[in-house]
Amino acid sequence: MTDGQTFAYAFKTEHLTRSFSGFKAVNDVTIEIPRGGVRAIIGPNGAGKTTFFNLLSGLLPPSTGRVFFEDRDITGLDPFQRARLGIARSFQISNIFRKLSVYENVRLAVQSLYDGKASFFLPIGKTGDLHGKTVAILADIGLSDVADSLAENLSHGDQRRLEIGLVLARDPQVLMLDEPVAGMSPKETHATVELIQRISPGRTILLVEHDIDVVMSISTTITVMQTGQILAVGTPEEIRANEAVQRAYLGGLA
Ligand SMILES: Nc1ncnc2c1ncn2[C@@H]1O[C@H](COP(=O)(O)OP(=O)(O)OP(=O)(O)O)[C@@H](O)[C@H]1O
Ligand SMILES: [Mg+2]
Repeated sequence: MTDGQTFAYAFKTEHLTRSFSGFKAVNDVTIEIPRGGVRAIIGPNGAGKTTFFNLLSGLLPPSTGRVFFEDRDITGLDPFQRARLGIARSFQISNIFRKLSVYENVRLAVQSLYDGKASFFLPIGKTGDLHGKTVAILADIGLSDVADSLAENLSHGDQRRLEIGLVLARDPQVLMLDEPVAGMSPKETHATVELIQRISPGRTILLVEHDIDVVMSISTTITVMQTGQILAVGTPEEIRANEAVQRAYLGGLA
């Protein structure tokens, strides 16, 4: 996962702007997102969080400005090219094979890594590694007990954790999660928070999340967006105490 090199930041943006019919959903954002830790992005509805995410993951091209990953200008790279650099984004459930077991879903994701290279040349002994890695990921995402269940029979929360597991199979340096606990019960939310804490060492987790308790409890830093711009960046304590942030949320962070 790590390449021995150290970079001060995971992502850097320079004057990043994305317009929709003249409306600037992301407006001239210049920011560095440090490497490592859980980096949350919060802000009111329509603040531009998902659009900013899409610009980092390559789902959307910017209207103007640049995106850097570590020391590399990735502005022109598509999501697949960015994934190869170690930037992985979890989508909501859509990547799950519903009629396969939980084990088979993870195993396929692990295997696809080898397939992407030259599975033809994969030594027979490597299939044992595939099983070992699959089992390790199942333990990470807390789904070992339901490994034999069909994916479609999992609860919503378990399906979303499985989705994170499929992304984890790539052992990404950067993992981007857009509202990972949305629609979850308190118990599922708790399990997902634990999952994020378990997988964060050694990688950078980027998180867009509305659940402020979750954000406050797991974030290394919080970036607050409002009307397409960065309102504030700081630790959870700094953000809680920030007056401009308090105003944006009408006291909701108290
Ligand atoms: N494809 C699009 N076409 C037109 N307008 C868009 C598009 N995507 C986003 N917008 C607009 O850009 C603004 C920012 O949207 P975005 O989805 O990035 O906000 P958000 O902070 O993720 O909000 P939420 O918290 O509701 O998910 C909104 O006004 C939205 O309507
Ligand atoms: Mg959004």
